[in-house]
Amino acid sequence: MHWEYAPAPQAQDIVELRPSYGLFIDGEFSDPDDGTSLETVNPATEQVLARVAAAGPRDVDRAVTAARRAYQQTWGPMPGRERAKYLFRIARLVQERARELAVLETLDNGKPIRESRDMDIPLVAAHFFYYAGWADKLEYAGFGPSPRPLGVAGQIIPWNFPLLMAAWKLAPALAAGNTCVLKPAETTPLTALLLAEIIQQADVPPGVVNIVTGDGLTGEELVLHDGVDKIAFTGSTEVGKRIQRAVAGTSKHLTLELGGKGANIVFEDAPIDQAIEGIVNGIYFNQGHVCCAGSRLIVQESIADAVIDRLKRRLQTLRLGDPLDKNTDIGAINSPGQLDKITELTASGIREGAERWSSPCALPDRGYWFPPTILTRVSQSHRVAREEIFGPVLSVLTFRTTQEAVSKANNTPYGLSAGVWTEKGSRILWMADQLRAGVIWGNTYNRFDPSSPFGGIRESGFGREGGRHGLEAYLDVR
Ligand code: NAI
Ligand code: MG
Repeated sequence: MHWEYAPAPQAQDIVELRPSYGLFIDGEFSDPDDGTSLETVNPATEQVLARVAAAGPRDVDRAVTAARRAYQQTWGPMPGRERAKYLFRIARLVQERARELAVLETLDNGKPIRESRDMDIPLVAAHFFYYAGWADKLEYAGFGPSPRPLGVAGQIIPWNFPLLMAAWKLAPALAAGNTCVLKPAETTPLTALLLAEIIQQADVPPGVVNIVTGDGLTGEELVLHDGVDKIAFTGSTEVGKRIQRAVAGTSKHLTLELGGKGANIVFEDAPIDQAIEGIVNGIYFNQGHVCCAGSRLIVQESIADAVIDRLKRRLQTLRLGDPLDKNTDIGAINSPGQLDKITELTASGIREGAERWSSPCALPDRGYWFPPTILTRVSQSHRVAREEIFGPVLSVLTFRTTQEAVSKANNTPYGLSAGVWTEKGSRILWMADQLRAGVIWGNTYNRFDPSSPFGGIRESGFGREGGRHGLEAYLDVR
């Protein structure tokens, strides 16, 4: 007997959408001077949610000027223990307004409410709490007796974890005494603007945090602005390289958190049930829109068929659909552009000889959707084994010896993340030593904590976010 789930929709009325939003500069919302506007849609329904300002050069200049003034007059001179109070206040307000933030994140991004409610928003609060605790202890962070902030930080973030990436950027920067100009991604600006309201509610002095919405042009203005002392970017490797070229030869500090092609390596002695859950969490969590996703499964040949069989059975139980339904596991793809990219790259895999299996789930008529998919018979030269897909598509490779697992895992220009599944602790440690990646998980995947540093090497970027290490990105330690 097959039991159907009853619908379990999360009510939306907690969110009050305005028809249009301005820029958050110097503590106030204002219309752009020389900017335009853009629409943000709900990717699960294609409904327009709101019109949002797209900041022009003069607007970016206003934001940077406000941030500079706040750095010189209020936030910079303020003792760390006072800054901490504001950060604790933001953290508590995020908790108080968690449901509102979670619903808005799901509306604007398309991710399941279960994830925004249980992962994104709690981690946002945790980040502010964690860095609030550092604000008055910077001299004990291991960067000398009186570490100095950098000044004004320009921060550009992507659309996959909109509010969480804002928290990863703002919390350490503010704790260290910098002021910020944050540019959210064009498809997901709404939770950052709600955070702006929270920042007002917390009485943070004007100009300490400025939020300029817009697309890549606004981002570029921010990168090129002379008044910015530091750029922190999370997004594609392509744009990361452009930014690196643009700041080369200037005195601007830079950290980049870019793409990845993470290897999730499963040995034959692994606890298979847990490994299956880890594979699912590695690549189907957040529709695969995860820079550290385990998009390459590298599984020992002796168990490969069994693992793939079980994985297929498990994927058929994942529920794809309305992201606001509390039972939904797989939400909408964030934009038509991203859907095209996933579709094109998957098709290239099949052309190059891979075999496709997709979960036979029905896709809704409206919105942007892609079913959980497995590509087998993938070889290392295929594009699907090399390029970031940023979608719910797993490429499967096999290995016989440990050495082969290492060389296949490392055969990528990226170096963000990897996972190792085995019963032997000694093997996890040995593998962690061999794998070229910034983050390595043992018998788990996609696990995040504000006290744990996160970041890449090689084409995945440089600099760390989270933990004591995350402070270094916002302190003058050169
Ligand atoms: P993107 O790198 O273009 O966008 C990220 C952010 O950078 C957005 O806020 C965007 O407005 C801004 N931006 C774009 N061009 C800029 C420029 N020239 N100067 C300054 N800021 C700029 O990424 P996009 O186009 O949204 O996604 C393309 C691919 O990038 C995805 O398919 C995925 O593979 C990868 N990606 C990786 C992310 C990660 O977390 N590693 C996040 C987002 C995308
Ligand atoms: Mg949107």
